[in-house]
Amino acid sequence: MEGYTLVTGATGGLGEEFCRQLAARGDRLFLTGRSPERLAALSGRLAAEFHAVQTDFFPCMLDDEKQRAALFADIDAKGVRISRLVYVAGVDTQLAFEKYDQQKLLFQTRVNFEAAVSTARYAMERRTQDFGILVVGSMSSACPMPYFALYSATKIAICYFFSALRTELKGSAKVTVVMPGGVPTRPDIIEDIKRQGLKGRLSAKPKAFVVKKALAGAEKNKRIVIPGLFNKFTYFITKIVPVSWQTAFVAKHWSGREKDAFTRRDR
Ligand SMILES: NC(=O)c1ccc[n+]([C@@H]2O[C@H](COP(=O)([O-])OP(=O)(O)OC[C@H]3O[C@@H](n4cnc5c(N)ncnc54)[C@H](OP(=O)(O)O)[C@@H]3O)[C@@H](O)[C@H]2O)c1
Repeated sequence: MEGYTLVTGATGGLGEEFCRQLAARGDRLFLTGRSPERLAALSGRLAAEFHAVQTDFFPCMLDDEKQRAALFADIDAKGVRISRLVYVAGVDTQLAFEKYDQQKLLFQTRVNFEAAVSTARYAMERRTQDFGILVVGSMSSACPMPYFALYSATKIAICYFFSALRTELKGSAKVTVVMPGGVPTRPDIIEDIKRQGLKGRLSAKPKAFVVKKALAGAEKNKRIVIPGLFNKFTYFITKIVPVSWQTAFVAKHWSGREKDAFTRRDR
């Protein structure tokens, strides 16, 4: 493929799996994540597993406008063209909204939405003729989620935004949003899936499965990809059940659950 695939959140659980499957297809990869050490280690692992893979990377805190500008300047300076953007970076903080401070809510909103839109706009400027955008949303955007409200809202925002952009770019680019249910990537997520019992087990899919479905859906230029039958069924239910019932159900089951794996700089 001409150009590079720009992968954000490359150092995360799903991000690395995207890199592996893209490398296996022969894509050239431009990786970004927060930590230079983790990016260098990932690049090394990819080179060891896929001898022919070409990778480049640049660390960036995507919630920071200046760091995003530095990332874009680095790509410009290297003359890299972008054939595909795979936006995986995301912050899944799950708290009652009164437990957020200003810094935490800006961080989550900026990584999940602002930076996705900003990076997509930049990628469009550097695009090759054959171009696509694949964004990782979430099943948590299928309905408003009390106690996970900001995450759910940022994920529906990217779903709406990229669904609209897809129409603007019709005929010139493929645009797809993948909406995974649970994916056992981090220890706290694995624990959370277990705590949900049967529902958690039915919704959860291995990262390799999710990424395979996402890439296949993006290739076919699907608007939305929902990996797994149970998640498809749940999505359908959210379209026919009144929203007030859905929020009451979620509030009942989610009020005691908390997830806060990210801080401003490290975790
Ligand atoms: N796992 C699930 O159950 C699940 C379900 C549905 C949707 N998703 C979505 O899938 C995506 C990946 O999740 P994951 O499970 O792979 O989680 P993860 O391992 O925590 O990966 C998150 C990635 O986002 C990056 N990131 C976070 N804040 C950033 C910032 N300020 N600037 C740049 N990069 C930043 C992280 O960088 P570092 O490596 O430096 O921390 C990491 O690479 C997220 O968008 C998440 O919302 C996950």
